[in-house]
Parts: sequence; C-alpha cells; structure tokens
Amino acid sequence: MFFIFLLSFIFIVDLVIPTKEQTLLEAYKQWRERADSKVCCDYGLHIAITHWNEQVAKDMEILTKEKGVNSFKVFMAYSDTFMLHDDEIFQIFSKCRELGAIAMVHAENGLVIKELEKEMLKLGITGPEGHLLSRPEKLEAEATNRAITIAEQARCPLYVVHIMSKTAADKVQEVRLKGQVVFGESNVASLGTDGSQYFNKCWRHAAAHVVSPPLRNDPTTGPYLLDLLANGSLSTTATDHCTFNGNQKALGKDDFRKIPNGINGIEDRLSVIWTKGVETGKLDINQFVAITSSNAARIFNMYPKKGRIAVGSDGDCLIWDPQATKTISFSTHHQACDFNIFEGFQCHGLPIITIVAGKIAYENGQLNAIQGSGKYIETTCFTDYIYQKLNKREQLREQIIKQQKIEREPYTGEVIDAKKSVSNGDLKTSPKNQTIHSNHELPAAGFHNRPATRAGARNLFDSSFMLSGEQWDDGNLRKTTRVQQPPGGQSKGLW
Ligand SMILES: *[C@@H]1O[C@H](CO)[C@@H](O)[C@H](O)[C@H]1NC(C)=O
Ligand SMILES: *[C@@H]1O[C@H](CO)[C@@H](O)[C@H](O)[C@H]1NC(C)=O
Repeated sequence: MFFIFLLSFIFIVDLVIPTKEQTLLEAYKQWRERADSKVCCDYGLHIAITHWNEQVAKDMEILTKEKGVNSFKVFMAYSDTFMLHDDEIFQIFSKCRELGAIAMVHAENGLVIKELEKEMLKLGITGPEGHLLSRPEKLEAEATNRAITIAEQARCPLYVVHIMSKTAADKVQEVRLKGQVVFGESNVASLGTDGSQYFNKCWRHAAAHVVSPPLRNDPTTGPYLLDLLANGSLSTTATDHCTFNGNQKALGKDDFRKIPNGINGIEDRLSVIWTKGVETGKLDINQFVAITSSNAARIFNMYPKKGRIAVGSDGDCLIWDPQATKTISFSTHHQACDFNIFEGFQCHGLPIITIVAGKIAYENGQLNAIQGSGKYIETTCFTDYIYQKLNKREQLREQIIKQQKIEREPYTGEVIDAKKSVSNGDLKTSPKNQTIHSNHELPAAGFHNRPATRAGARNLFDSSFMLSGEQWDDGNLRKTTRVQQPPGGQSKGLW
C-alpha cells in the first residue's frame, strides 16, 4: 500500500517582457491573446519594466487597477537591453508601494558583468564556461543587497527572483530576520543540478545550462538553499522555464554572450524538489507544499482560492505517489525541447493524477487537458499578507519624521555664493578662514596654491602622501628631517 496525498497549486504566472517599441499595456494584451485560447490551467501575469517614464507609470496604474496585475519586475542585469539604474528602480519601487503592488528583481550587477565578459573574450574564452566566469557570485550578492536597500528606502515589498547562490540568499535571510518585507525565490535548476555543467566537454551540453544568474560551480549550494527554504528564509521555488533547442542555443557557438538564456523546469519541478528535499529529510510534507504552492499563492494574493484545498477554493489538486520512481530524460519528457538539464536524475515521488478545475487533466501518463479551459486570474493589490504591516509602518513613519522637524529662528546674516566667488578667481575664506576644499569644484588654477587647513595641517589632496604608502621623497636620504603630516593625524615633531 502506498501513501497518497494532495497538493493544490496548479497555476502558472508568466512574465510579460515588453519590447522597446511596446507600451506595457500593449505587451499585456499580446500575452493575453497568445495565452487565452491555449491555456489548460489558470494563469496570471507579472509585467517587466525595461524603461521608465511617465507613460510607464500611468500604465502601471491601469494594469493594477483594471487588469489584475499586482507584480512588476525590474532587471539590474542585461546592461544593453533591460537594465535600469538605481534612481529608476527607486522610482518604480515607490510607484509599486503607492499602488500596493509587489516589486520583483533580477539582481546581478549588469555593468560589471559586461566588462568581465569582454575580459573573458580577450583571454580567449568563448565557450559557455565564460558565461559563469563573467558572472561571479559576488555580483549577484551585491545587486541583491542593493535591491534590498533600495526597496527599504522606497518602503516597497520586494520579491527576489531566481536566487542562485548562497551569499545572495544570505542577504535575504539577514533582512527578513530584521523584519523587512522581502521574499526570496529559488530555482529548481539550482536545487537539482549545478554549475560544473558549464565545463562539460560537449558544447551543446554546457550551453543547455546557460541561464542568468548562472548555476554555481559548487555542489553544496543546492542543499544550502533547501535548508533556507526549510527554515523560511527563502519562500518559493520557481522554474524560470524558458527552453531553447540545440540549434537555437547555437547562436552563441563562437561567443557565449549570444547563447540564449533559458532552461527547462516546469515538468520536473515537484519531483526534483521532493527527491532533494523530502527524501533527504530536509523538508516535511507541509513545508514542501508551502514552498512549491501556498507561499506563492499568498504573496501574489491568490490565497485561498489557489494554494489551498478547502470549500470555496478552486478544484485544482494532484494525487502524489511518494514511492513512484522514474529517470528523467529528454527522450520521454513532454516539453518542446531536445534537452533536459535533469537528464538521468532518479526521481522519487511522482504525480499520478492531476485535477484542474475539478476535471482530470492527467492520469497515469495520459494527458486529457483541454486547450483554452484555463482562465486569466486577476490578482488584486494591497494583499494583507504583505501590506497590512507596511501600511501601518507608513503611518508611523510619517509621524516619526514630522516629530524630528526642528523649529528655528530664521538666519538673517549675509549670504555668499562660495562657488561664484571661487570662479571669479577671488578665493574667499569663510568667517573662520577655513578654505573651501572641494576638489571637484575648484578650478585647476586654485589647486597648487591652496593654503593650509585651519590646524596648519596639509590637505590630503595637496600633500605628498600617497595612498599606496610610497612617498614622493622616498629616495631622499634627508627625509627624516622633514615634518610630514602622517595619515590619520597630525604630528608636531620629527618622525
Ligand atoms: C536557516 O538555515 C541555514 C542553513 O542551515 C542557517 O545558516 C540559518 O541560520 C537558518 N536560519 C534560521 C533563521 O534559522
Ligand atoms: C581672515 O583672513 C583675512 C585676510 O587674511 C584677515 O584680514 C582676517 O582677520 C581673518 N579672519 C579671521 C577670523 O582670522
């Protein structure tokens, strides 16, 4: 006799990425038209924002208020196409908060990656290993930290998509423990395989794993991310499913930068996570359901219609056989792709029946799904799960800031524009005769004859002290007789 139970989140949330010529609304419509006649289960949409202006802000408003979109994604990577700068990201995050939406981020430092890619090519590395070598873990952790910091300043809830490394996950864990509303999503690829694949001798095999951020070349990353999923530091497991056949990946056969990014994941997600998580004792069954289903339903405000089996919830569930086994292979999978990144993976735990909207859509290998039977699900903003505490904090913040305002007598003395007098060649000093030291604003002519500072010490910009530790007069034997200003303080005597 085997043990059977139910799961309850049969739902896809796809990402709409507008082209440069498209408005957000046009792209949304295009995705709806493509999907509505074909979907076999309910679906929702996240919208990517790849440029920023007034029109985009207006479209965000329409999408949230009229089209059932409650999440927007920004990219810190892909510097030539999708990447936004920190000020734009701040403005988008602020807009998300105003609308009650959740911000999503692809966190990698796009500008530095671009430079490292050039370096790899210069060193003659053109294969898929160059993809990993030009996207070090630190650039993921740095951008994750930056996104979290910007979200904190904008007081916006943040969802960090496809976290692929330990250090990026640690950043999320750290701020969650302090109460910031941040969610981390892991990717089934990073739980089921790793970045050693980029060094495979077979170009096709290595290229098949190209995805950003890359899989890390460290077999302990997957188990570590599972630990964080188990203790609530990370919240969800997604797929980033976006497959390309070998001949499509071959666009980058001579230059890893041109390999289309994308991997498979949807079909094998549950079995891979069950095998790596539940079979190893890292996750119990309830945690498994939470990270694969109900947490996502809560964050994107579909709970309890989705993510729960109860009266009033949608009739979506599946019957799971934890003892069933299979070996994953592209030759038997149902995905439109000639490669499977989990090829040869031995699964324990398989779905035997899938029920969508009360009808059996899959049973013992037979697919009975009805095209067009799925519906677009509108997701509303200001979900209590996220915004209840954020709204409260917002009220308190205003009070606290207002309390910090200082009432002062107005200044009635003389007002001098120091910048103007400097550029007139008239180096004025302040009442205490402190020289104005702004290296950026002073004209070059003023640089060499700048007077000593108030204490008689030399300005670091003018001094002969070098940050490297080298001194301009290192060759001078009489050096010890000179009175120098040592770093970090003044010295009255000889040294
Ligand atoms: C979660 O698990 C990780 C990995 O074992 C550990 O480092 C971390 O301290 C745990 N966090 C919490 C909040 O328990
Ligand atoms: C500032 O410098 C001017 C010109 O050298 C001098 O006349 C004046 O007394 C100085 N003021 C103070 C406060 O030292």
